[in-house]
Amino acid sequence: MQNITLITGSTLGGAEYVGDHLSDLMTQENIPVDVINEGEINDVLDARILLLITSTHGAGDYPENLAPLMEQLEKNAPDLSNLKFAVIAIGDSSYDTFCGAGRAAESLLTGLGAQSLAPMLEIDILEHPLPEEPAEAWLSQHKQAFCE
Ligand SMILES: Cc1cc2nc3c(=O)[nH]c(=O)nc-3n(C[C@H](O)[C@H](O)[C@H](O)COP(=O)(O)O)c2cc1C
Repeated sequence: MQNITLITGSTLGGAEYVGDHLSDLMTQENIPVDVINEGEINDVLDARILLLITSTHGAGDYPENLAPLMEQLEKNAPDLSNLKFAVIAIGDSSYDTFCGAGRAAESLLTGLGAQSLAPMLEIDILEHPLPEEPAEAWLSQHKQAFCE
């Protein structure tokens, strides 16, 4: 089974917690996963399956621990056609830039040729104060795609 690279973008810890939670669930099911909280471009270039879990900060911006990686991807524009990916976006629907970081990441990865494994999950923190719950349901629905 291919290793899953799980990269988080988080400022206040929520998205990171969701990443740890999904990683624990995958580990329990013997799905190999590496969690990375300060992603670098080589983490993406070396990955075959990427699960990106990011909140949104500023005005639709990437969290600080994810922004450098995404800037490098934009600048270097590597060919990611060997990469399969999915994005979990966490945001607050009171912002008109709701889930802006997750949406930008999905669009960037697709533009670089990466293949989507599952539709992006957008979690509204106002509706789901425990974002790990919808994330867990999404994983259960789509985990087969990560294991092929
Ligand atoms: C200063 C600030 C700016 C934010 N800007 C946005 C935004 O533009 N769009 C959005 O959907 N959510 C926005 N949020 C909401 C966060 O994405 C949300 O609270 C999320 O759960 C934080 O996740 P984290 O704990 O992983 O940082 C913002 C939150 C803060 C504190």
